[in-house]
Amino acid sequence: MTIYKTKDYEDMSKKAATIIFAQIITKPNCVLGLATGSSPIGTYQHLIDWYQKGDLDFSHVTSINLDEYKGLGAANEQSYRYFMDTHLFNHVNIDKTRTFVPNGLEPDADKACHEYNQIIAREGRIDLQLLGLGHNGHIGFNEPDTFFEKETHCVDLTESTIEANKRFFASEEEVPKQAYTMGIKTIMQARKIVVIVSGADKADILHKVLYGPITSTVPASVLQLHNDVIIVADEAALSKCDL
Ligand code: GLP
Repeated sequence: MTIYKTKDYEDMSKKAATIIFAQIITKPNCVLGLATGSSPIGTYQHLIDWYQKGDLDFSHVTSINLDEYKGLGAANEQSYRYFMDTHLFNHVNIDKTRTFVPNGLEPDADKACHEYNQIIAREGRIDLQLLGLGHNGHIGFNEPDTFFEKETHCVDLTESTIEANKRFFASEEEVPKQAYTMGIKTIMQARKIVVIVSGADKADILHKVLYGPITSTVPASVLQLHNDVIIVADEAALSKCDL
């Protein structure tokens, strides 16, 4: 595991974007595993800037997103499909038909998850998986006590996740209580994993993820077992780690 300590969010975003830049340059038809949340917004902005300057070409890139709220579709501003469109896809030359997000509008969870697993199997191994970190150690929407062996599945969101994500909704009641998420097994199969973490509120959980026991109560701790993980975290997020 490599840990890059950055000055702040902006510095973190630029370093993470540089790693993705290198991935696209070295393998133009790569499969990127992408994430939502506040953490990757700056990273995506750098990628957009470099695309607009003519330095990056997304035309052969495939993207597979981690998760989607059950019940929300592309037209809903809180959906992760909408997030990806507005924060990245609409601003670069990626082929939208090659951008995949679980189908939140499919009410049959088994069907939605099975279809997503088929897409992942068809598109091949993810070359680079970008991850944020939830306050309870979740990655994607793999909440504490998720089995590490899972592929795409439907999850009941925990109170702490609903609480953390309510800032994006008009009220807590509007936050969906379930989501479809890529499982830990699939995440761990990615060739390279880049985790971005910013802010003092993530310091405790980041310390547990990096130095605590590998346990399903802290899902991201499983990343200690992956052979190519890069943590890009700012000073505040790393303030509990002796680096
Ligand atoms: C959500 C997403 C995760 C994300 C996490 C952290 O729960 N499903 O993929 O990593 O939030 O979000 P943020 O980056 O806003 O702290």
